[in-house]
Amino acid sequence: MPPPFPPPFLELVGIGKRYPGVVALAGVDLAVGAGEVIGLVGENGAGKSTLMKVLGGVVAPDSGVIRLDGAEHARLTVAGALAAGIAFVHQELNLFDNLDVAANVLIGREPLRGGFLRLVDTRAMHARVQPLLERLGCDFGPGTPVADLSLAQRQLVEIAKALSLQARLVIMDEPTSSLTLSETERLLRVIEALRTDGVAVIFISHRLTEVERCAARVVVLRDGRVAGELPRERIDHGSMIRLMIGRDLQGLYRAPARAPGAPALEVVQARTAAKPARSVDLVVREGEIVGLAGLVGSGRTELARALFGIDQLLSGRVRVSGKTVEPGRPRAAIEAGLALVPEDRKLSGLLLDLSVAENISLPSLRAHARLLLVSKAAEREAAQHQREQLGIRVPDVGTAAGVLSGGNQQKVVLAKWLSMAPRVIVLDEPTRGIDVGSKNDVYDLLRRLADEGVAILMISSDMEEVIGVCDRLAVMHEGGIGGWLERPQFSEQNVLRLAVGLGAGTPASQPRQAQVVEKAA
Ligand SMILES: Nc1ncnc2c1ncn2[C@@H]1O[C@H](COP(=O)(O)OP(=O)(O)OP(=O)(O)O)[C@@H](O)[C@H]1O
Ligand SMILES: [Mg+2]
Repeated sequence: MPPPFPPPFLELVGIGKRYPGVVALAGVDLAVGAGEVIGLVGENGAGKSTLMKVLGGVVAPDSGVIRLDGAEHARLTVAGALAAGIAFVHQELNLFDNLDVAANVLIGREPLRGGFLRLVDTRAMHARVQPLLERLGCDFGPGTPVADLSLAQRQLVEIAKALSLQARLVIMDEPTSSLTLSETERLLRVIEALRTDGVAVIFISHRLTEVERCAARVVVLRDGRVAGELPRERIDHGSMIRLMIGRDLQGLYRAPARAPGAPALEVVQARTAAKPARSVDLVVREGEIVGLAGLVGSGRTELARALFGIDQLLSGRVRVSGKTVEPGRPRAAIEAGLALVPEDRKLSGLLLDLSVAENISLPSLRAHARLLLVSKAAEREAAQHQREQLGIRVPDVGTAAGVLSGGNQQKVVLAKWLSMAPRVIVLDEPTRGIDVGSKNDVYDLLRRLADEGVAILMISSDMEEVIGVCDRLAVMHEGGIGGWLERPQFSEQNVLRLAVGLGAGTPASQPRQAQVVEKAA
């Protein structure tokens, strides 16, 4: 009789890995069988990415063995892992912008034509790549330049590359963190298709709903160990969270301790270059957490950047505590008390070579520099305070920010802006890549700040989050405000309706919000 489960072709046994001051992995076992979709979850810094780097041959473990097709290895090399069919869809995608899709998929393995000249055979290349793209349901062809593709499409190119290499295991490390809802749906379908073809997938995500939907088995890492495994029938939010953080979570909403105060942030008739056709009016009062929901591409990030003066406003004004902020100058925005926690921590949020403490003190440098010197002691002290407040997992605040786990880097970006005590904080996808437990710490912190009188505008594509955390919601559509919702009207359906423009044609000003909601409900 055949065994009920495919025997594993790959086994990690007792894998350990230390870094200075950190035990990243403390003896992890993991077996992978053909066509298995394994969800890998755990808090920030639990060791998920490190474990996958061991599988990809990028990191050499200090202890343990890797059993691959019956042979034992102390470590894998990148080439060895690839040859064995282990493919890694990296979060920072490794594609060449100046080449087309087919060239990226077949890089280093291009079919050649012509005897002596050995030219790359573009037609043969396209013919080979086309069926792979079809299999993945791609809406672009092999000749498309990668530079023209969205992030989600690039991810599909990486998966096509894995398929062309006859991958048996595709590792996806937080593949959906920057995807839209429909792109995420498509990726989940691709995972299902891989599974039916017998390809195994390891799926890492902090979005537990997605894990719940695609995984046949969930492995939970905690402090570099396997805290537990859940078979399909036991996979649910509660069980995963309990294994991840060892306790249950409270609900997302924290009621405000005070009534909203005076308007702290006023945006009047603001138009950005990205969406010049419509303008935005909005007000966030002291003590309020206002959410800015909407589809990816609806103009939320552009608005945030323009408010902060990184991009020019085509027209309109921004006022902080009643005073108009000089446009187009981030420094003026900071001086007026505005802080922006940007979306892309790698590009605009964090200097990876600088220490955690230095990163945190950057915007408030002038505060520490009163005596003409940046006081290292003050910098460290401020950083240590923030580390405790946000639970940033780092042995020493002098550590370079670049070696922190993804979610901990995000917390450093948050800490950096909080350390300058702003009056208005605009957060763009603040908890992307942050684990569920730490998200709760962030929500606690935001409410605490709001109760101290700070006005908070939070951009988020995480539906649970905007609905769960905010006091009021503005939903953006095509660069304008599609409508407003008050807490009693919060629902996924109402947000989505306003986001796709049902309720459009209604002026976006706040006094008419009730009317907009009626239309949407
Ligand atoms: N190159 C490195 N040097 C020093 N420490 C490292 C290095 N790489 C990882 N670490 C540490 O190892 C631990 C595990 O990190 P890892 O990136 O595997 O976490 P993770 O589970 O992927 O977290 P996240 O959910 O935030 O992505 C962290 O404490 C991290 O700071
Ligand atoms: Mg990681």
